[in-house]
Amino acid sequence: MSLTEKMLAAFVFWAVGTGLFFFCVNRWVLTLRDYRAKTPLMLLAIVLLNGGGLWWGWHAGFSPLFWPVLALLVGLVLSELRRLWLRRTLAGAPPVWQENVAEPLLQPCTTTTLAIRHYEVRLPHWRGPRLRIAHVTDLHVNGMLPDAHYRLLMERVQQAAPDLLLFTGDFLSDDGAYADRLPSLLGEVRGRLGTFAILGNHDYWSDPQKLTAVLHQAGIQTLGNGVHTLDLGGARVALWGCEDPWGPTPWAPPPRNGTAAAGRLDSELVLALSHTGDNVYRLARAGAHMVFSGHYHAGQWRLPYIGPLLLPSRFGRRFDHGHFVVQGAHLFVGAGVGSTRIPFRIYCRPDFFIVDVLPGD
Ligand SMILES: [Fe+2]
Repeated sequence: MSLTEKMLAAFVFWAVGTGLFFFCVNRWVLTLRDYRAKTPLMLLAIVLLNGGGLWWGWHAGFSPLFWPVLALLVGLVLSELRRLWLRRTLAGAPPVWQENVAEPLLQPCTTTTLAIRHYEVRLPHWRGPRLRIAHVTDLHVNGMLPDAHYRLLMERVQQAAPDLLLFTGDFLSDDGAYADRLPSLLGEVRGRLGTFAILGNHDYWSDPQKLTAVLHQAGIQTLGNGVHTLDLGGARVALWGCEDPWGPTPWAPPPRNGTAAAGRLDSELVLALSHTGDNVYRLARAGAHMVFSGHYHAGQWRLPYIGPLLLPSRFGRRFDHGHFVVQGAHLFVGAGVGSTRIPFRIYCRPDFFIVDVLPGD
């Protein structure tokens, strides 16, 4: 076998290993409930799939195995193209206004360059008042980022004067000691009608009891997997928490009738808070009109024109960031404010969303 044939076979086997890692295995590993196994499993997968593919291809060459492997490569590429097509199909309306979102190629590090995205959603069935929601997610307070970054965030949230302020988890980064910093970083900024929160995976991997107590003392209501209903002059708004898969109890929609929860499900506006957007399909089926999520950090490290390579979602890059409409529910996925573990962002600005809910005509 010639050197060229060996190199071609090695490339194809390596590409299949890489495709399996990026499009299949990493999605399974990154969505594991327990974080301790993630890093060793990711390293093992890289060595076995990428390194193993290269080694195997070099030695197997144009053996009968080459053609099935080539077919697998074509299948992987087609499935990723389908995923990108789905992302495009499910995309919602773009922001009506945004600030600080341009990403010059010569300024790759965007760790504390806060962006703001302002959306408007008109819900034909909503007969209540116009509502302004501020959605903040993934603060990851861990001492790595300057306090000024969080203070600027809360200043901008205050300027937006939200009716509801929603936090969708990951206040902390695996260290409960930083919960004490939250009151001073969040200051006095709250939603006019209330401020609500759920916890994220990193909160559950730190000290969820302490964090919950700190949030309550600061006037932030935690939802857990429960529902809180607001009555706005006869029009009801349900705030619905979903902490799956990290919460202490599995999430399930409230029963539709025969209990006190029935009225909640029948609220005219159902806003679900779910740390991961992976829950969007079942939340939409259960009756959520809008779903607010974070968790993905929009990849945290992105490539210009390509986007994120790794995203902790079982749907891969389908809902990486922004506004989507999934089975009639409006999904908002924030990029988050902080950074986890390796504390920097590449071509991926931290952001928060302002979402105006407009009543039907
Ligand atoms: Fe996070």
